[in-house]
Amino acid sequence: MHSLPKDRTLFDAIPDPAYRLDRRGTILDLNAAARAEPALEAIACDLADALQQVMAQRAPVTIERRAAENGRETDHEVRLTALPDEEILVLIRDITERKQTETALRESDAQFRVLANNITDAFWIRSPDMKVVRYVSPAFERIWGRPAKTLYGGPHKWVDYIVPEDREHVVRTFSALTQDARSLDVEYRIERPDGEQRWIRVRGFQVRDSEDKLVCHTGIVTDTTERKLAQAELDAAHKQLIEASRRAGMAEVATNVLHNVGNILNSVTVSAGLVRGMLGASRAQGLRLAVQMLNEHADDLGDFLTRDEKGQMLPGYLRDIAQALLQEQHDMGEELGHLSRSIDHIREVVTTQQSYAGRAGVVAPARISDLVEDALRMNAEALARDRVAVVRDIGAVPRARLDRSRVLQVLVNLIGNARDALQGVPSEARRITVSAHVTGGSRLRVSVKDEGEGISEDIRTRLFAHGFTTRKHGHGFGLNSCAQAASEMGGTLSVHSDGPGRGAIFTLELPFEPVEPTP
Ligand SMILES: Nc1ncnc2c1ncn2[C@@H]1O[C@H](COP(=O)(O)OP(=O)(O)OP(=O)(O)O)[C@@H](O)[C@H]1O
Ligand SMILES: [Mg+2]
Repeated sequence: MHSLPKDRTLFDAIPDPAYRLDRRGTILDLNAAARAEPALEAIACDLADALQQVMAQRAPVTIERRAAENGRETDHEVRLTALPDEEILVLIRDITERKQTETALRESDAQFRVLANNITDAFWIRSPDMKVVRYVSPAFERIWGRPAKTLYGGPHKWVDYIVPEDREHVVRTFSALTQDARSLDVEYRIERPDGEQRWIRVRGFQVRDSEDKLVCHTGIVTDTTERKLAQAELDAAHKQLIEASRRAGMAEVATNVLHNVGNILNSVTVSAGLVRGMLGASRAQGLRLAVQMLNEHADDLGDFLTRDEKGQMLPGYLRDIAQALLQEQHDMGEELGHLSRSIDHIREVVTTQQSYAGRAGVVAPARISDLVEDALRMNAEALARDRVAVVRDIGAVPRARLDRSRVLQVLVNLIGNARDALQGVPSEARRITVSAHVTGGSRLRVSVKDEGEGISEDIRTRLFAHGFTTRKHGHGFGLNSCAQAASEMGGTLSVHSDGPGRGAIFTLELPFEPVEPTP
């Protein structure tokens, strides 16, 4: 037996269980680690084949064995080395963990393949310099309509498949990935062999090891064609909606115009009726009879006027008629004056409307006070009918570049809403304040304040949503179109209310670009 004290120390220092066997497999000695794990002796005692092999080839032999200990299975690597004197050194190492890792790796590799074969996204792995394609998943063929081997064979081929307009940009983005960019995200078009174009989005990443060394590049490719098409449809629908809201907002203006004209036409009808009535009842008829009588007595006019009973009354009668006709003339003049003022009013309303119609987006010098007056005029009939008092608080605002049509649209709607909010308020307390000021020298702030029903917190958050209304005959388009118009003018529309019953104030804020110096 080799039992020199020096060997012994060495033998015990081996961290794995170690055994010294003779060529028949009898254990001659075992180290400290082996003594600590008696269950492993069963392995050491059952190595007949391996012993023969190691004796025959005189080179180390490694085999694997499984042992069961307390119901738990463990894997071991058994290494046999021939020693002098026909003895064999057996080292047993626990490799359970490594085995498990290998199994897990095998499973995850299988999962990876299942994933790669089935997900609709394609992905690739390329060498750090991008020149070698290491892997392309099967989805490549589905998206590009070309076999994956075209890429393995020609790593630069993918550039040819990009539509020419997108090529330069894409190549530049990819070359950044090999330099300082750690990732990329780019969307572009590719062309399939049949000429069909598809949109794809590629997200590429640098893959680095624990020492931050670049190992490879990988990329995920998503076919975004359907999404792009849906997006385009959505954009078109959105545009239509905006246009519809804008029209709805302008419809409010048009409705107001018609309403005003309708009311004025009422008074035109009344005046015309009165004039017709006056003509029907005119005393001019009596004058015709008197003239007829004078004609009949043309030969003895003197006698007739002095002696005849009717003749004697005729001068007085004529005087009365003259007076009545004067009165009639005056009344009709009044009524016709009224009529022509009403017609002027209609012309004014129509002209105002025409000066705005279909001109949204035209920015021209205008005075905000004029726009406020126009908006009030368009609501004038309704405000008067509801006995709403209007207070103007217009600062000295110089002429400025404004989109008159849009500003008017917003004001008409806000004034209309304020009037609606005052319905429940006693008529003597119905009041709207319209103000316009320049703030901070660069913003124009126009607001419409009412002392009406006010707005609860819950409603305030929904006011500007398309279709939100609490009015019986409302559409809920007004504020939505106003907010839209405000943002199209580069401004904002905001609301403040201290709560139900405490009124509301809507404020339109616009960039202020004066065309004349501030007074
Ligand atoms: N000044 C205000 N005071 C209180 N509530 C208001 C005021 N202005 C608007 N609202 C609320 O906001 C809602 C939406 O207003 P919006 O102008 O968008 O629609 P609407 O007036 O109901 O209908 P329309 O489309 O005919 O204008 C109103 O129904 C009302 O509840
Ligand atoms: Mg409204």
